[in-house]
Amino acid sequence: MSRGRAPTAAKAEFDKYDYYRRAVQAPDVDVRFIRDAYKELRRREPGSLREDFCGTFSICCEWVKLGQRYEAYGVDLDAEPIFYGLTHYMPGLDGSQRERVRVQRDNVLNPDLPRTDVVCAMNFSHYIFKDRGVMKSYFHNCLSTLKPGGILLVDCFGGSQCQEANEDVIAHKGFKYYWEQESFDPVSANATFHIHFKRDGEKRREKVFSYDWRMWTIPELREMMAEAGFRKTHVYWEGTTRAGTGNGVFNRSETGEECQAWVAYIVGEK
Ligand SMILES: C[S@@+](CC[C@H](N)C(=O)[O-])C[C@H]1O[C@@H](n2cnc3c(N)ncnc32)[C@H](O)[C@@H]1O
Repeated sequence: MSRGRAPTAAKAEFDKYDYYRRAVQAPDVDVRFIRDAYKELRRREPGSLREDFCGTFSICCEWVKLGQRYEAYGVDLDAEPIFYGLTHYMPGLDGSQRERVRVQRDNVLNPDLPRTDVVCAMNFSHYIFKDRGVMKSYFHNCLSTLKPGGILLVDCFGGSQCQEANEDVIAHKGFKYYWEQESFDPVSANATFHIHFKRDGEKRREKVFSYDWRMWTIPELREMMAEAGFRKTHVYWEGTTRAGTGNGVFNRSETGEECQAWVAYIVGEK
C-alpha cells in the first residue's frame, strides 16, 4: 500500500453571512458611533434603537451590549438573514441582552414599527428606494416612529469612482473580498453592485450578494429628510490620514473633500 499524503481536513462549508460580516461589517464600532452621535446632539444617553433593513441584525446584538438601558428592534423583509442572526448572533448574548433584542419580519415603510430614540439604516440599504416619493415616505415614517428628540442615522457613499464600472479587491486572512460596481446609468443615477468572495485555493464565488440602487447624493438625502419634517440634518465626514486615506473618524462637517470613493453618515434630528 502506498503511503500517500494524509488527507487534508475538509474546509468548512461556505457561510456567506460569516464572510460578509468579516469583510463588510463592524457593528461594535457602529454602535459606539451611533451612541456618541446621539449623546453629542442630545446631551443624554439613548436607550432604544431600531435597525431598519437589519438583515442578520448584528447592530441590534451589539447595541444591547452597551448597557442595561439599551434595547434594540430589528426590521427586515427577508426571513433568511433574520434566521441566521437568531441562530448565530443571539446565542452569543447573555440572558439580559437577549431579552432586549426583538426582531420582526416587516417592511420599513410600515407605520406601526416600534418607537425608538434612534433609527438607523446601514450599509446603504435605503438606496433601494429609487423613487423620491418613496424615499421621502420612508424618512417620514422614521420621523413619526421616533420618540421625541430622536435621531435617524443613515450611511451614504459616493465619489467619482461610483460613476463607472469598476472592481475593488481586499485581501483578508484566508479569503479575498471583491466589491464590483457593474454599471452606472447617468440618466437615472441607478447602479448595480455585486459582492464576490474567493477563499484561498478555491475558485471565486460570483455574486454572493447583489444590489440594485440609486446613487443618491448627500444634498438630495438631506433635502428629503428636511421635506419629510426633520428639524435639522448633519453630515459626519471622515477625517484623513497623512497618507490621504480615510482615518475612520467621522465628525460633523458642512464641507467634504473630493475623493474617488467616500463613505459618510447623515443624521436627522426630530
Ligand atoms: C444591503 S442589506 C443590509 C443588511 C444590513 N443592514 C447590513 O448592514 O448588513 C439590505 C437588507 O434590506 C432588506 N430590505 C429591503 N427592502 C426592505 C424593506 N422595504 N423593508 C425591510 N427590509 C428590507 C433586505 O431583505 C436586506 O436584508
